[in-house]
Formats: sequence, C-alpha cells, structure tokens
Amino acid sequence: MRIESANVVNNREIAGGIWHIEMEAPGICGEVIGPGQFINIAVSDSWQMPLRRPMSIAGNSGATLEIIYKLFGKGTKELSEKRAGDSLNILGPVGNTFKVDVQNGTPILVGGGVGIAPILWLHHRLQSERIDHKLIIGAVTADEHFLDHNPREGIFLTTDDGSLGEVGTVMPTLERLTLEIDHSTVFACGPEPMLRTIRHYTNANNYACQMALESYMACGTGLCQGCVIELEHEDVPQNSYHEVYSLVCCDGPVYDAKEIRM
Ligand SMILES: Cc1cc2nc3c(=O)[nH]c(=O)nc-3n(C[C@H](O)[C@H](O)[C@H](O)COP(=O)(O)OP(=O)(O)OC[C@H]3O[C@@H](n4cnc5c(N)ncnc54)[C@H](O)[C@@H]3O)c2cc1C
Ligand code: FES
Repeated sequence: MRIESANVVNNREIAGGIWHIEMEAPGICGEVIGPGQFINIAVSDSWQMPLRRPMSIAGNSGATLEIIYKLFGKGTKELSEKRAGDSLNILGPVGNTFKVDVQNGTPILVGGGVGIAPILWLHHRLQSERIDHKLIIGAVTADEHFLDHNPREGIFLTTDDGSLGEVGTVMPTLERLTLEIDHSTVFACGPEPMLRTIRHYTNANNYACQMALESYMACGTGLCQGCVIELEHEDVPQNSYHEVYSLVCCDGPVYDAKEIRM
C-alpha cells in the first residue's frame, strides 16, 4: 500500500449519474492483486474535505487503474470535475480479494448500485480466463445501465421499474439461476439491503457466497474503527473484540456470507 499522485487520463459519464475514470498510477498498479481491492481518493486538498473517498478498483492494466463511481455527494461531484492531465492523490491498493475456485461451482456474479465496479472487474477476469460464469447487474431504471442485456452470453440486467432487462431486483434472477445451475458460488457487491437479502438467501439454501462490503469509512486504514462489522460468533469471553468485530477496511472488504452478521 502506498500514496501516489495519479495522472487522470480520462473521466466521463457512461450512464445516468455513473462515471468512469482512468488514471495512471504505476506504483499502485504494481501492487494490485485483484477484484475486491479498493483505493482511497483525496478528491480535494481543501480542508473542508479531509476524508478520502473509498472506491473499488474496476480494472487495471499496465500502469492504468479504472474506477466506476456514482454521483452521490460533494466528493463524487468534485471527482467528476477532474479532467485529463489533472492529478489525484490516491492511497492503495487496500483490502482483500474475491477468491474464485471453479471446483466450488459456476460463479454467479451479482452487482448493484455503486457495487458494480469489483463485479465487472471479476467478470472481465473470468472472461479472459475463459471461466464459464453468469453476471447479474441490477439498477433502478434503464438509464443507469451501460451494458447490454444478453442472457445468451450469461449477462442479465434487471431494473426495478422494468424499463430494461428483467423486471424487479436482482433476486428473482439470482434465485432462478441458482436453481438452474447444479452447483454455483455467488459473488456479490452492492447496497447493504441487497447484500443482506442475498446473504439471507444463500445462507438459508446453503449456497457458497462471498460479498464485498461498502461500509461507511472515514480513515480507511484501520485507525478510526468507523467501518466495523459484526462477525458470526458463539459466546466469547468479555473483551474479545477481535472475535466479535472486524474492520472492513483492514480485514475486508470481501467476506464469506456465513462469517458475518448484517
Ligand atoms: C470499500 C468501498 C468501495 C467503494 N466502491 C465504490 C465504487 O466503486 N463506486 C462508487 O460509486 N462508490 C463506492 N463506494 C462508496 C463511495 O465511497 C461513496 O459513495 C462516496 O464516498 C461518497 O462520497 P461523497 O462525498 O460523494 O458523498 P458524501 O455523502 O458527501 O460523503 C460524506 C462522507 O461519507 C462517506 N460515505 C458516504 N457514502 C458512503 C458509502 N456508501 N460508503 C462508504 N463511505 C461513504 C464518504 O467517504 C465521506 O467521507 C465504496 C465504498 C467503500 C467502503
Ligand atoms: S475506516 Fe477507519 S478503521 Fe476502517
């Protein structure tokens, strides 16, 4: 992990409120391991925005790092104003990665909202390694999608309002695919309500599932204890903090769905 001044190569809107930024960061790229990892971006050097914004890595090739982000508040608005040639102070790579083992079944990847970045990167990795898998991406409406709905190629888009792909949340599609495929493992990233529902479904039906959590973070480096998640645990002696809680920024963001409470 290191701090680096990245050079913005490209920053553009690819769907309604969804942006894609490419930056050159040879030092951090040299340390990147895989999907799930993220960087912490100092979007501004103003004292009014002291906290870095955590963003999943959406891809990396050579010295170039990609991020896909959704306009949310002040920080992401400021990020969208960066132009080619601007520099961006970033810290990373941070965190662990999804672990794919085809012996554990066909991967079903599920992304929603701001959680599409690591899922898309995993999708591209599996494609390049010719590993058969399915991809489900959920959004509220067609505007937020930038891929094609292509069930023949194993790509399923869903929209809450039915304006593109399959109608509803990602859940009906996920439930159908897990029933159709003999043996599968689910990899998910997205808003907490989506992850909670997926966790409940996969645990109840004993499907393997790894999920990348996007907890609120302040320091992003293990200092503030702001990103705590409760672990699944038996009765433990008092003061056994590390058996009961985990810091998403240090121990995560990827967890086995059976090891956490949400
Ligand atoms: C590990 C991780 C990976 C992430 N990856 C992505 C990604 O790939 N694309 C993307 O669009 N978003 C991602 N997010 C969420 C993203 O960090 C927030 O949307 C962003 O920080 C909002 O900043 P803001 O200034 O626009 O919003 P504001 O509401 O103004 O932010 C205020 C503060 O709250 C924090 N914050 C607000 N929302 C979130 C959130 N959902 N998660 C964590 N911190 C938050 C901000 O970092 C900031 O410190 C990720 C979050 C985490 C923890
Ligand atoms: S964000 Fe500060 S400890 Fe994790």
